[in-house]
Amino acid sequence: MIDGKKVLFSGMQATGNLTLGNYLGALKNWVTLCDEYECFYSVVDLHSITIRQEPAELRKRARALLTLYIAAGLDPEKNCLYYQSHVSGHCELSWILNCFTYMGELNRMTQFKDKAAKHADNINAGLFTYPVLMAADILLYQADVVPVGKDQLQHLEITRDIAQRFNAIYGDVFAIPEPYVGKTGASIKSLQAPEKKMSKSDENPNASIYLMDDPDTIMRKFRRAVTDSEAQVRYNPEQAGIYNLINIYSACTGKMPEEIEKEFDGKGYGDFKTAVGESVVSVLRPLQERYTDLSKNKDYIDSVIKNNAEKADYYAMKTLRKVQKKVGFPERVR
Ligand code: TRP
Repeated sequence: MIDGKKVLFSGMQATGNLTLGNYLGALKNWVTLCDEYECFYSVVDLHSITIRQEPAELRKRARALLTLYIAAGLDPEKNCLYYQSHVSGHCELSWILNCFTYMGELNRMTQFKDKAAKHADNINAGLFTYPVLMAADILLYQADVVPVGKDQLQHLEITRDIAQRFNAIYGDVFAIPEPYVGKTGASIKSLQAPEKKMSKSDENPNASIYLMDDPDTIMRKFRRAVTDSEAQVRYNPEQAGIYNLINIYSACTGKMPEEIEKEFDGKGYGDFKTAVGESVVSVLRPLQERYTDLSKNKDYIDSVIKNNAEKADYYAMKTLRKVQKKVGFPERVR
């Protein structure tokens, strides 16, 4: 708890371009959470180097992501938006937690198996202990809730196991985090293979709408979106492509699926796709404008980076000092 509020922590990697799925499914809904929770949103650059990165590119993307957080409406006075690498407590706690995590547990992580298969030439120890760093992220802030996608639930589970193991030995040191199950955003699927989630790392650029796509690109991607031969705008999960487009249109306009079915009753898919594309353009335009303005304001972004890292560091250190004492490190004399 911080000032009587529960703590929420989430992290995002700055690899790949954020998609409409990231925005409608996560970011957009995070904006209101700061009323109820003390929110920390970290750009997890320490995690990013488990895969080889081009340094200048990583730096650029990390800053772009932080700027996008603000452009999407996360107020940096009310939400702590910071780089993971600026708060040394993440690494320090991660080391300690490594000593409370079993090889067998890490061996079961499906994401490790997937990434190891994908990057067979670079199966480094950091890739293996990735979930321990993630546990450190969460536990460092005594987070109560963590909004994560399905693919990260296993990592949250191991975080809870590590925390419970530590608490069983040393007393109540860590809050035990729960997955965030509040109002969640729409689950947005690929425009090219609507049974899959829209992903920032999709190899087919037509599958995803990127937050920085220009209007022409957006309209073109929707025109090419995979549909079916039913020729009916029905909110039917069997019509996966149309179902996804209805979800997108609904999230962008606030209209209910039934209303949308009525609106396009008797109309062709072409008209519907145009309407969906236009609704997305009008949601992304103000975000892109804010992003462009913010990017020009270097001093402001720098001040956010500095102030929020200091704030994060303050809370991180509180937990870290407690943990160091518990495990038996000598008292600090400086
Ligand atoms: N592993 C997460 C992902 O790839 C990112 C992440 C790192 C994270 N630390 C976290 C998410 C802590 C939630 C909480 O999506």
